[in-house]
Parts: sequence; structure tokens; C-alpha cells
Amino acid sequence: MTTRILAISGSLRRTSLNTNLLRQAEAIAGRGATFDYFDRLPAIPLFSEDEEHPAPAPVADLRDRVRTADAVLIATPEYNASIPAGLKNALDWLSRSDSTGGPALVRKPVAIMGASGGQLGTVRAQLALRQVLHSMSARVLDKPELLLFRAHEQFDESGVLPEGSRAHAALLGILDGLADLVTQRGTPHPATR
Ligand code: FNR
Repeated sequence: MTTRILAISGSLRRTSLNTNLLRQAEAIAGRGATFDYFDRLPAIPLFSEDEEHPAPAPVADLRDRVRTADAVLIATPEYNASIPAGLKNALDWLSRSDSTGGPALVRKPVAIMGASGGQLGTVRAQLALRQVLHSMSARVLDKPELLLFRAHEQFDESGVLPEGSRAHAALLGILDGLADLVTQRGTPHPATR
């Protein structure tokens, strides 16, 4: 089965380590998954209940793409020990219902990972992100965790995660785990009935 993955990078930086991590996931997944990259975080307005209806076009686009995907894969940097604002803003929009349906991430399989230049590998951002996604009733993959610390040293000179590295193995595990979550759909959440 091919898993349709919506890939979201929490970084807007052109040479982002986190966006590159998503590209590595796509390369490792091969034919097992298709990747749709959502790169419109900067176009999403700051959330306001006054602006919810009708949904701004980039928000409607994000909701559609989340609903179409089998699973969501998020790679996030850590900013000031937490989630970057653009990513959190998008998640706040996704936590809301609209005329086309309930909150798009309810029961959706989601995996998270993150890369940083420092030693902590985004652990605090990932903890914060996990909490937010749980509160939105997403089905978040528990393990493996991928905290890519000193990330610039872990990619080779072409930006590739070397086969056989711990990070490469973790990425494989995340893709397998996400595919398993997709096939184990489980009981629908009450909010989706
Ligand atoms: C950072 N960075 C950072 N790193 C970290 O490990 N913990 C932190 O709390 C922060 N805080 C932080 C705040 C702000 C505003 C910036 C710009 C940066 C460094 C960060 O990990 C580094 O810039 C990464 O390379 C960002 O990820 P991308 O853009 O390469 O994907």
C-alpha cells in the first residue's frame, strides 16, 4: 500500500535542516509513500475567531490536504524551547471545524521529528508539539523518536542521512510506524461520527 503523506516543515528557511529531513524521509520511503509538501505556512493569517468563516484560502487548502492525506509527517525546529509560531498558528486553525467538516486532525495518524544544530535535538519543541496534537485528538506515533541533534554533522556533504546511521534507522522506523497507524484505523473518535 502506498501511504499518502502530507509533509509539513515548521521552518520557513530556504536551507532548513528540517525541510531536508522531510526530503530524506521521502527518499527513504521510496515507492511506499507519496509526499505532498505543504509550504504555505507564511500565507496563513494569524488565527482569529473573527476571521474563521469563510476560511482564508491557504487554511482551506491546508484542511483539504490534511483530509486527503492518509497521514501527516511534521519536522519542526525548536524556537526558544518550543514550537515555531507559524506551525502553532496552522495547528490552531486545524483544531477548528468549518462548513466542510470537523477538525481535520481528529484521528489522523501523525508522526513528528525535529532537527537542530544544538545538543538537544528539539526535544522541548517535540514535547510541546506532542501535547498540542494530543489535545487535538490526532493519533500521534509514540516511537521511534527522532531528535536530530547537531544535525549539520549528521547529514553528509550532499545533505543525505547516511544509510546505517541511527538517524536513518529512526526515519525508517517512523515511516513504518506511520504506515501501521494508517492501517490500524481503530474506532472512530466520537467527534468524527
Ligand atoms: C533557534 N534555535 C534553537 N535551537 C535549539 O536547539 N533550541 C532553541 O530553543 C532554539 N531557539 C531558537 C530560536 C530562534 C528564534 C531561532 C531562529 C533559532 C536554533 C535552531 O535550532 C536552528 O536555527 C535550526 O537550524 C532551525 O531549524 P531549520 O530552520 O534549519 O529547519
